[in-house]
Amino acid sequence: MARARSNGSDPGRQSRRGCVSASSDPMFVANSVGTEAVATEALLRSTLDSLSAHVAVLDATGTIIAVNQAWRSFAIQSGYVGEDDGVGTNYLDVCERGAPFSSDAAATAKALREIIAGRRRDFRMEYPCTGPDGPRWFQLRITRPDQQEMPRIVIAHEDITEVKRVQEELAHLTARLMQLQDEERRSIARELHDTTAQNLLAVTLNVTRLRERLRTASPASDRILTETLALAEQSLQEVRTLSYLLHPPLLDVVGLGSALRWLGEGFSERSGIAVDTVVGEGVETLSRDAATALFRVAQECLANVHRHARSSWARIALHRLSDGIRLEVSDGGCGFNARSLNTGVEPVHQTGVGVSGMRVRLEQLRGSLQIDSGPAGTRVTATVPLTQ
Ligand SMILES: Nc1ncnc2c1ncn2[C@@H]1O[C@H](COP(=O)(O)OP(=O)(O)O)[C@@H](O)[C@H]1O
Ligand SMILES: [Mg+2]
Repeated sequence: MARARSNGSDPGRQSRRGCVSASSDPMFVANSVGTEAVATEALLRSTLDSLSAHVAVLDATGTIIAVNQAWRSFAIQSGYVGEDDGVGTNYLDVCERGAPFSSDAAATAKALREIIAGRRRDFRMEYPCTGPDGPRWFQLRITRPDQQEMPRIVIAHEDITEVKRVQEELAHLTARLMQLQDEERRSIARELHDTTAQNLLAVTLNVTRLRERLRTASPASDRILTETLALAEQSLQEVRTLSYLLHPPLLDVVGLGSALRWLGEGFSERSGIAVDTVVGEGVETLSRDAATALFRVAQECLANVHRHARSSWARIALHRLSDGIRLEVSDGGCGFNARSLNTGVEPVHQTGVGVSGMRVRLEQLRGSLQIDSGPAGTRVTATVPLTQ
């Protein structure tokens, strides 16, 4: 990123290490005739110097007229050789010179031009930078304080390396959790299918046989057994649907489009909800992680249709966009208030883990999730970019 590290200097400006280098600027000395003004100036200096952010104040042309202690220290550590701490350098020029080589510098130059022209009030950007002690992350903020008579622009570079490190750790942890969740689901699905469903099947067969024997002997027992049989059959159906929803197919082998068709057909057979699956052209270019995430989103959506929507139909649509892939799962059910789920303001304990899990999966891939719901039904739209 373009930090004003060039040797641009203003011969008329005196450098004074250890305090804000701006004593000749009217902003700082306009009222210095009075003691109050001197005290105000000293307070302003010490306030700026106490900030951990590297701060520079620019005039209306983009020239640096003051820097704080943190800016100065960083410049020295980074090998800046001038005596002026960068004061007198035109920051906009520095960014413009860097623009052909760095998109960050280009974005900063553009924003600074707009702020100088009064077409924009502020700008914020995170960027990586190699400092004296290795790679670091900074957040740049450019603001234009409300000051008609003496326009000034404040540049602040805040070191956010630690925040980025924690974010990265969190992302790794979340990815690991998602992977463990997939493994756990797979083993629960296997257990449900191979053991619970088999046992329930045996129960229904036994009850059927028992009912045959008692049918004439005891009408009251027959009624109880008929009810028991109905419950056991219903439970068997539920367990099969659940194990089907939890079990992921071999996405690597069949591709996302076929896997979604397989999911739709199987879900429809087991739940009795009609599912229409539409797969567009050019959707098989996704990474394995992205395909798995979209498949899990579709599974979770169908599970929600089954559990909450009370809809007789569902529709899965997968389409390619110019820069990504979009999955839509819709139903014609009762709908719900999706606003709090979209903004994520609802406390986690008040919602299920389904929607938040979908969102986390997509955020991992820099994708997004949108839920539209009303009395005519619900539509969940998941989008992932093609650039990962
Ligand atoms: N298709 C849908 N139709 C109606 N309500 C839905 C639908 N999908 C989600 N919901 C509502 O959103 C809530 C949160 O969903 P989710 O996070 O998957 O949790 P869970 O399914 O475990 O309750 C559900 O409890 C339900 O009230
Ligand atoms: Mg759910």
